[in-house]
Amino acid sequence: MEELFAPLRVGKMTLPNRLVMAPMTRSRSVDRSVNALTADYYAQRAGAGLIITEGTQPSVIGQGYIDTPGLHSAEQAEDWRRVTDAVHAAGGRIFVQLMHSGRVGHSSLYPDGALPVAPSPIATGGQMYTPDGMVDHPVPREMTLEDIAQTVEDFVSAAKHAVDAGFDGVELHGANGYLIHQFLADGSNQRTDVYGGSVENRVRFADEVARAVSDAIGPERVGIRISPGSTSEGISESDPAELYRTLIRTLAPYNLAYVHIMEFGHRAVTELVRAEWPGTLILNPHKTGTEAYVSPEIALEVLQDDLADAVSLGSLWLANPDLQRRIRVGGPFNSPDAATFYGGDHRGYTDYPMLDV
Ligand SMILES: Cc1cc2nc3c(=O)[nH]c(=O)nc-3n(C[C@H](O)[C@H](O)[C@H](O)COP(=O)(O)O)c2cc1C
Repeated sequence: MEELFAPLRVGKMTLPNRLVMAPMTRSRSVDRSVNALTADYYAQRAGAGLIITEGTQPSVIGQGYIDTPGLHSAEQAEDWRRVTDAVHAAGGRIFVQLMHSGRVGHSSLYPDGALPVAPSPIATGGQMYTPDGMVDHPVPREMTLEDIAQTVEDFVSAAKHAVDAGFDGVELHGANGYLIHQFLADGSNQRTDVYGGSVENRVRFADEVARAVSDAIGPERVGIRISPGSTSEGISESDPAELYRTLIRTLAPYNLAYVHIMEFGHRAVTELVRAEWPGTLILNPHKTGTEAYVSPEIALEVLQDDLADAVSLGSLWLANPDLQRRIRVGGPFNSPDAATFYGGDHRGYTDYPMLDV
């Protein structure tokens, strides 16, 4: 397992190991803000090479799920400061995942009852949980050019709040069927202007966000997550290899901190990104066997095969606050309890036991 514990330079940070904590929504925010419990949760996991937080909306309309936190106000940044201070005091490093969910949303989430927005007025075909039970995702409102420019600005403003809050950087959520991905994929993007049609046009929004945020806070503080070939939230891509080759070639000159792939079985596209991307690659590998989640063995294989520079694990970090130590000594590992993934209190959040030492 030694490969997992080799230090890695990412941006201006040196990670002490290659075990990244994958972003995980936990829906425990109050009034769209984090609190002391959030700080405990992340500080417990400061032994990760890098923590990437739960998806955090850069604007009110960017929210996609109940009780997720935002970074669209100075007050929210102040609340996040407790989290970053606690993680840094415990010796860790932490990026915030900026997640605009686009059409994956519902009027009940927004104070003015607005419709969610997206590149094109096409619904996901799926449903979401609201206080009134499960409801269909609505047909979103098609974004105007002004909306698009404003959304780029919202990402920039959230990234500046992230720096004010003490984060080491931001991860742009370009994966899993949310707004940036909705622009990339031709199933959800049927625009006829400069943001739709050709692959170059569909990459434009991701490019503008990445460039504007890098200009604002420095490229070494910006990562991006992608999920080539994913079908999450009704997404469909007719051309994953061409799409991600173009995206990666577009982003390559910017010297971003990293690209983070959530792999959906398209190993050839992962290899293509690895070959084309000059910087750090973090991989959340697809599970081919019977594993429910990424195991230490799968993580090790990724590094031994030189598929990526670091591996992100979700469920195991959720359930094992001292995961790096447990991997070092060969376990045992707590099992994640799916019943407490989303919402609730400290149970299934900050009460997973550490190993006795
Ligand atoms: C409870 C939960 C919440 C998640 N929320 C997010 C999220 O906010 N953003 C994101 O990019 N991925 C999210 N994911 C996906 C994880 O980052 C990760 O890719 C996935 O869990 C697979 O890794 P694993 O097999 O190690 O769990 C979530 C996963 C879980 C289990």
